[in-house]
Amino acid sequence: MKIIAHRGASGIAPENTLAAFRLALESGVDGIELDIQMVDGTAVVLHDRWLQKTTNGLGLTQQINLNYLQSLDAGGGQRVPTLKEVFTLINGACLINIELKAPDCELAVLADIDYALKQLNFKQDQFIISSFNHFSLRKINQLVPWLKLGALTANLPLEYAAFASQLNAFSVNACIDFIDQAFVDDAHQRGLEVWVYTVNQIEDIQAMLDLGVDAIFTDYPSRALQYIQ
Ligand code: G3P
Ligand code: MG
Repeated sequence: MKIIAHRGASGIAPENTLAAFRLALESGVDGIELDIQMVDGTAVVLHDRWLQKTTNGLGLTQQINLNYLQSLDAGGGQRVPTLKEVFTLINGACLINIELKAPDCELAVLADIDYALKQLNFKQDQFIISSFNHFSLRKINQLVPWLKLGALTANLPLEYAAFASQLNAFSVNACIDFIDQAFVDDAHQRGLEVWVYTVNQIEDIQAMLDLGVDAIFTDYPSRALQYIQ
């Protein structure tokens, strides 16, 4: 079972910051998950549309410029990084699950991936693009068919993982609140991996091992790695 640091090692450092990603890398994770918002045409790594959720700023990401964003404190003196800055830090050391949270961010993210492949030490199969917005995933698949997709769901659909097959996804990224054996088996029969968020407690990690899921997103990657080793 792969361990993916959720928003970096966000249980011990401010989420989605270089500090959180550095700690995740140091713990030896298989992958890092991060969230994308758009500011001024640039893909930035931030979970919420509203700045006040995780920074000392105010307002909506759509209404600010990059200079203002970069003047803000995202916790412990950390800035909100651009996707390119995070790529530069990780530099091919692990998988990256890029979760698209903003409308119309696909082209900016694809341009940054192109940069990472040409200028940094990444390989194509180190990227996975996920989103709750399945139109966005379909657009990515049409533009760059080789990119792996993670079809996110926050519920347990009546037709299990059928929606992920329909999207040509690599994995179905499901919420721990609803995951069960029938869903996992259905996804596996369709050739999909099953990645589950957000798995922090030891009992939950064991339950995911028992279900046979392929990866978990956790805020405490060191704890999870220690437990499964
Ligand atoms: O990608 C898994 C998980 O991060 C999805 O939900 O709200 O934590 O971005 P959220
Ligand atoms: Mg996320």
